[in-house]
Amino acid sequence: MKNLLVTGGAGFIGTNFVYYWMDKYPEDHIVVLDALTYAGNKDNLSEAEKKSKFEFIHGDIRDQPLVESLLVNHKIDTIVHFAAESHVDRSIHGPDKFINTNVVGTHTLLKAAKKNWFNEKFENHRFHHISTDEVYGSLKSDDQPFTETTPYAPSSPYAASKAASDHLVRAYHKTYGLQVTISNCSNNYGPYQFTEKLIPLIITNALNGKALPVYGDGKQIRDWLYVDDHNLGVDLILRKGKVGETYNIGGNNEYTNIDIVKLVSSLIHREVLQNKELVNKFPNCPAAHGKHPEELITPVKDRAGHDRRYAINAGKISSELGYSPGESFETGIQKTLKWFLDNETWWRKIMDESYNDWLNLNYD
Ligand code: NAD
Ligand code: DAU
Repeated sequence: MKNLLVTGGAGFIGTNFVYYWMDKYPEDHIVVLDALTYAGNKDNLSEAEKKSKFEFIHGDIRDQPLVESLLVNHKIDTIVHFAAESHVDRSIHGPDKFINTNVVGTHTLLKAAKKNWFNEKFENHRFHHISTDEVYGSLKSDDQPFTETTPYAPSSPYAASKAASDHLVRAYHKTYGLQVTISNCSNNYGPYQFTEKLIPLIITNALNGKALPVYGDGKQIRDWLYVDDHNLGVDLILRKGKVGETYNIGGNNEYTNIDIVKLVSSLIHREVLQNKELVNKFPNCPAAHGKHPEELITPVKDRAGHDRRYAINAGKISSELGYSPGESFETGIQKTLKWFLDNETWWRKIMDESYNDWLNLNYD
């Protein structure tokens, strides 16, 4: 039985991880620590809060006394560290928060973990750090996918802050012997993803009849990973991964952004044509008037420093830990679209409350 501290558990991947873990290991205790920034949503965890082995703590990973008290009071033996500022565009407009949370916050957690686990002689502890493929920089079209030994070359302040945190985590292993693992994964998609990220933005804008913004020429490539396949990878690393090691997790699904936007538009077109209820629910969607949502595609100014291509070689986690993603992009995107169609109240609330100002800033 494990006692887990999940940081950032009210965000997109953290929420999915909590439900994945509860379902698979119901005997484990889970404490979520989340500062509920614009990207965190406590309502996501309402089902989890019905369980006795779950606790939500509203707090900041940079609050070392708070983190230490959680580690002691809940006898935490495993930290799964998702909490971060995660949106590249926001990091371009305001990098400070990214340094504070992603670098200083990760370091605070490391200090608290080291102090508590060494004082309490917790021999079987684990600090698992969730990182990103963006630390490796950009690939050319004919380059080999990233491996765990690809040199770091981050492009954005977000990616640089994640790279810095990865280095700190590794340093705490080498210098102090903290038992750490790191995973670097590609672009996740799935339920509960905040609607500023490409796939949920396209789904919700197409349903609302709003512009589908495509940065630059739209030929940038990302390697899409269904969120529960990411969680499966983290699970394998926690159970079978070697301390001190890094594992890349990918979906083996490279698509250009423009192809993603066209595919999602076509899926929505088909769904709305097949289902009269959706016509009434989403009257502003072009498909409700017999038109194709593709007509909403709008080229906009490119992202500064935009990485051209990411691709993950997941050979290490596959061969050493038996990882194999369960979803193809075709099945994962269907599940995701269904979730967004079924959970309109969830995304309407976010879109009303959180980020209209941000969108205006971004598309100038
Ligand atoms: P997210 O932005 O949806 O959620 C981040 C969560 O962290 C939010 O709940 C937020 O409230 C919380 N948080 C932020 N600052 C905090 C602080 N100081 N203290 C406590 N909580 C804080 O992010 P996500 O997409 O779920 O990403 C989770 C992790 O996975 C991040 O570390 C990110 O870098 C990494 N990652 C994400 C992707 C992706 O495609 N989404 C891919 C690779 C890696
Ligand atoms: O690769 C992993 C990373 O994936 C994570 O580390 C980040 O936390 C996560 O946000 C994500 O970063 P990206 O920048 O790749 O994701 P985003 O959804 O913002 O953009 C995906 C691609 O789509 C990117 O090339 C930019 C482009 N894009 C994005 C938006 C929001 C558009 O063309 N239009 C848009 O409106």
